[in-house]
Amino acid sequence: MRLVFIGPPGVGKGTQAVRLTDSLRVPHVSTGDILRQGMREGTAVGRKAREFVDAGKLVPDEVMGDLIAERLAKPDARDGFVLDGFPRTVAQISILDDVLGRLGVVLDRVFVLVAPEQEIVRRLGGRRVCPQNGEVYHVESHPPKSPGVCDSCGTALIQRPDDAEEVIRERLGVYAELTEPVASAYAERGLLVEIDGTGDPDAVFERLQQGLEEV
Ligand code: AP5
Repeated sequence: MRLVFIGPPGVGKGTQAVRLTDSLRVPHVSTGDILRQGMREGTAVGRKAREFVDAGKLVPDEVMGDLIAERLAKPDARDGFVLDGFPRTVAQISILDDVLGRLGVVLDRVFVLVAPEQEIVRRLGGRRVCPQNGEVYHVESHPPKSPGVCDSCGTALIQRPDDAEEVIRERLGVYAELTEPVASAYAERGLLVEIDGTGDPDAVFERLQQGLEEV
């Protein structure tokens, strides 16, 4: 199964992608996670990406194209993947088409998760992440067992720099301008399934599974 998740920042793409990859036994390929790991480790891609990510802007398409080509060519992605956060521009659709064409595979479905803006802002404002292993929490809807501390490794949780209020506004603007046209393009190809992202994560996951049955 080769799936793409798109949707505004904070709608719950990562939360749902992790659940889905656990049940489908395919890798979760999150371009945001790959960039943040590169930033932590100081790789060439991480150094190029930092100024864009921290400002809530998109990393240039040519950087993202190399990154996604390399990741999807790895053996663990041969039989399927859930791609979370790519493509995000119309130009990135062509990049993905080329990469998949070279690999001789096609996409099965593109899911777009949707939720009202006030819910998105609430989710991002309360998000806390583990800087050590990337686990994601929410102060209300998914709190850690001990406040402020990762359940798995005990590291102090942080807020992502791009979850600052003014950066959230920038990211929402970028999504409306550059990524909504991606959803429209996949709708024209008959690949898009819209999923209501409101309600608790279990309710959203149930809707996703129903969407998958149509694949
Ligand atoms: P990325 O990491 O992809 O960020 P994003 O798309 O903005 O998405 P988020 O990770 O913020 O949110 P999410 O939808 O995964 O929500 P989550 O599940 O965490 O990208 C970051 C940056 O990298 C970009 O801004 C850009 O600079 C760069 N980048 C990445 N890809 C790129 C590309 N292709 N091209 C160029 N640049 C690129 O949930 C959010 C919170 O809500 C959590 O706290 C969670 O616990 C909670 N929550 C989730 N679901 C629910 C629910 N149903 N009910 C209540 N709370 C919930």
